[in-house]
Formats: sequence, structure tokens, C-alpha cells
Amino acid sequence: MTGTTRGAALPDPAPGGDRPLAELRKAGKSYGATRALHGVDLAVHPGRVTCVLGDNGAGKSTLIKIISGLHQHTEGEFLVDGEPVRFTTPREALDRGIAAVYQDLATVPLMPVWRNFFLGSELTRGPWPLRRLDIARMKKTADEELRTMGIVLDDLEQPVGTLSGGQRQCVAIARAVHFGARVLILDEPTAALGVKQSGVVLKYIAAARDRGLGVVFITHNPHHAYLVGDHFSVLRLGTLELSADRGEIGLEELTDHMAGGAELTALEHELAQARGVDVAELPEGRDRQAPVTASPEGNP
Ligand SMILES: Nc1ncnc2c1ncn2[C@@H]1O[C@H](COP(=O)(O)OP(=O)(O)OP(=O)(O)O)[C@@H](O)[C@H]1O
Ligand SMILES: [Mg+2]
Repeated sequence: MTGTTRGAALPDPAPGGDRPLAELRKAGKSYGATRALHGVDLAVHPGRVTCVLGDNGAGKSTLIKIISGLHQHTEGEFLVDGEPVRFTTPREALDRGIAAVYQDLATVPLMPVWRNFFLGSELTRGPWPLRRLDIARMKKTADEELRTMGIVLDDLEQPVGTLSGGQRQCVAIARAVHFGARVLILDEPTAALGVKQSGVVLKYIAAARDRGLGVVFITHNPHHAYLVGDHFSVLRLGTLELSADRGEIGLEELTDHMAGGAELTALEHELAQARGVDVAELPEGRDRQAPVTASPEGNP
């Protein structure tokens, strides 16, 4: 830091505290000839949940891979705390407080909960060469941190593999919070879960938000998004189809954007054809409230 002048002329770094923690400006990404993402604006604010919705292949994972340092954008800008960045590894993103929880979670099923909580960042005690794992402190800390998030497990010795999918997501969320994440990215955390378990995960998304984290919640499910979201960004074929604050859009409209009116009609015709129904006989699809809109995610 030598030689830098911290003059009074510097602008307020965060006027009103409203500067995004992370921001994409007209960002895009091509994989060779495939343009997966184009011209996308997205802002992650502290204490807010930004939901990213979109169909398969819409570019959701590509978007969060840019933010979490797995991939680099090939167009536009990516800023963290207002400063343009280009991460080359997830470690660099993590060092700036950006943590991603993927569906496979990178937990080790046979290891106890507390051990998974500290995986890669184990606490030790005693001087070298007598340094040993500080098991007691790790258990205590994991227990406290899980309880702070409202997660009560009977036994932290139980292998993570014995927890439900929802509980595992919650352990991963609590771990990210404990290790100082400011931005928490969740890639379809409720996709494989039933109604009750999804509710549990949504509760911890709200808990992370209440602790001041900026949460990016990727989902196919507008109902889940609407329960916790402050902002909704819908991607279609790699571009932003919709970007709206909660006050600007209702659940019905959001569901409609997700379902994609025209595509739904096409699908309906395809299904009808597959069953040998004469498509020409069908009344125009959308107005009949096709049941496929009801739960795009659901359980298998
Ligand atoms: N590593 C890659 N190499 C080439 N093309 C890719 C790569 N990753 C993604 N794509 C393409 O980019 C587009 C967006 O993919 P992406 O995985 O971001 O979509 P998604 O919205 O996450 O979809 P899903 O809901 O299925 O997870 C797709 O057309 C996909 O085939
Ligand atoms: Mg994906």
C-alpha cells in the first residue's frame, strides 16, 4: 500500500450502502462457437435474494460459474465491490467472499457432519510437530454455527450421507456462512427435494439473507423463487428475458414467464400428436390453463 494517497477527494465507496457486492454488466460467455450467455445484467446486494430462473440450457449455470470463478466471461464486465475482476479459480472468488453450493455439494458422505463442516479448513491445536486436529473445538463450533442458522441435528457424529438432501444443503449453507461468505450462490438447491425439505432449504436461504448475505438462488421453480426472492431474473436462450424487483411482478406473471406461453402451446400440440389426437381439433392452448404450468419442477 506504500505510495498510495488516501485523499479526501475520493468518492464515498458505497453511497447509501447500496453498491452491489457483485455485478454483471452486459456480460456474456461463449464456449467456442456456442454462445451460452449474452448481454446479461445482474446485481447481488447484501441482505437480498436474487433469483435466477430459466429453462434447461438457458445459461443459469454458466452465469453462476462466472461469478464463482469456475469460468471467465468473454464479453461485458464482472465487478466485485465495484471493481472489475476476472477470477481464474473458485479459490479467488472465495477469497473475495463468493461461495457456491452445487447440487453434489462436495461433501464426503462417510465423514461425520462436523468433519464435513471443516473440510479443507480443519482447526488444529498444539505446536508443530505435535499439532493435532482440534476435534472438540470443531464439533463445538459446527454445533453452534448450525444452531445459529436454526439447524438442529441430533448427532454431529453421524455421517453426512445419512442426512436428507435438504439437511445436507443446510449444512453446506451454514458452512459457507461460517467461513465468511458475503455472496452465497445456490444452484438448484431444491430441485431434487420434496415439498417439506424444499421448505427447510428455503428457510435457510432466508436465514442467510437475514444475516446480510447476498444470495443468488438458481431454480426452475417460480413458486420457490417467489417465496424468498427480492429480485427475479429470467434467462431464455442465454439472454435476460425478464429482470424485475418483487414489487414489480406477481407470482402469476413470473410463472407465465417461466412457462413461456408460446413454447407451452407448441409442447401441448406435440403431446397431443404423440397420443394420436388431431391437433387441429384442439382449441387454442394457452387460454385453457394447461396443467403443465402448475409445477415445472416437482418430484420425479
Ligand atoms: N462447457 C461447455 N461447453 C460447451 N457448451 C456448453 C458448456 N457448458 C454449457 N454449454 C452450453 O451453454 C448453454 C447454457 O448451458 P447452462 O448449463 O448454463 O444452462 P442451464 O440454464 O444451467 O441449464 P440446466 O437447467 O439444464 O442446468 C447450453 O446450450 C449448453 O449446451
Ligand atoms: Mg444448470
